[in-house]
Amino acid sequence: MDLGLKDKVAIVTGSARGLGAAMARRLAEEGAKVVVTDIQAELAHATAEALQQAGLQAHCVVGDITRAAEVQRLVDETVATFGGVHVLVNNAGMPRDKYLVKMSEDDWDRVMDVMLKGAFLATRAVMPHFIEQGWGRVINISSRAHLGNPTQANYSAAKAGLIGMAKALAIEEGRYGVTVNCIAPGFMDTEMVRALPTYESIKERAIQAQPIKRAGQPEDVADAVAFLASERAGFISGEVLHVSGGRYG
Ligand SMILES: NC(=O)c1ccc[n+]([C@@H]2O[C@H](COP(=O)([O-])OP(=O)(O)OC[C@H]3O[C@@H](n4cnc5c(N)ncnc54)[C@H](O)[C@@H]3O)[C@@H](O)[C@H]2O)c1
Repeated sequence: MDLGLKDKVAIVTGSARGLGAAMARRLAEEGAKVVVTDIQAELAHATAEALQQAGLQAHCVVGDITRAAEVQRLVDETVATFGGVHVLVNNAGMPRDKYLVKMSEDDWDRVMDVMLKGAFLATRAVMPHFIEQGWGRVINISSRAHLGNPTQANYSAAKAGLIGMAKALAIEEGRYGVTVNCIAPGFMDTEMVRALPTYESIKERAIQAQPIKRAGQPEDVADAVAFLASERAGFISGEVLHVSGGRYG
């Protein structure tokens, strides 16, 4: 199936590693021109260079997604480098898991800033381009945690917020040929979760709860992103696609 992504320009936030890096590679393999952007400078450059060495079209912009000026520079540099922007994947994120009584204001604010405000700033910066060209795709990387997880009041709230934002924008921007959707991954075996002290037990519990008995891989999410970014998904908007091995609760 031709996804119609050849020469489309895609920004994937937080794509130095993990799910974002897999998404960037998948979109580039479909012929898209991809901007790898992340706060981790060295890793972001290495990820973009690996794509270029594989003969794919990639550019790196280092920046903090929580800062409006840096987000504007990201979009301006994307347009200057590749001649436009068509796809935005709001993927940058991080947990700061704590029981509520131990959760600091900073734990709350940082998670909200990176995942929710960052997505707002990036979406606001690309939208004038999407509206002008009458075509655009926004994909928010939410999480199965939008349904709630203990120690994740901040993370679950931000991930549920991304869904609310997508549903509002799907209605607001649909008339311009812009779709806005969410992907809700379940447990995915990435460095982010491997860094958690509870990694082994989380993984075991997730696989036990899933009808499909294996750990999710970054490519599982990347394939879903490529589809929602494509021409083929032009009549799908405001949706939440769970990529969670059949686990919803
Ligand atoms: N791994 C999972 O099981 C899982 C499940 C559901 C949802 N998710 C979500 O998927 C996304 C990617 O997760 P991952 O597992 O690949 O994690 P990851 O830590 O490997 O990747 C997240 C990236 O975001 C970047 N980032 C953090 N703060 C940033 C900022 N201020 N500006 C720019 N970039 C910033 C990080 O540097 C990192 O490279 C996250 O939003 C995460 O919440 C992950």
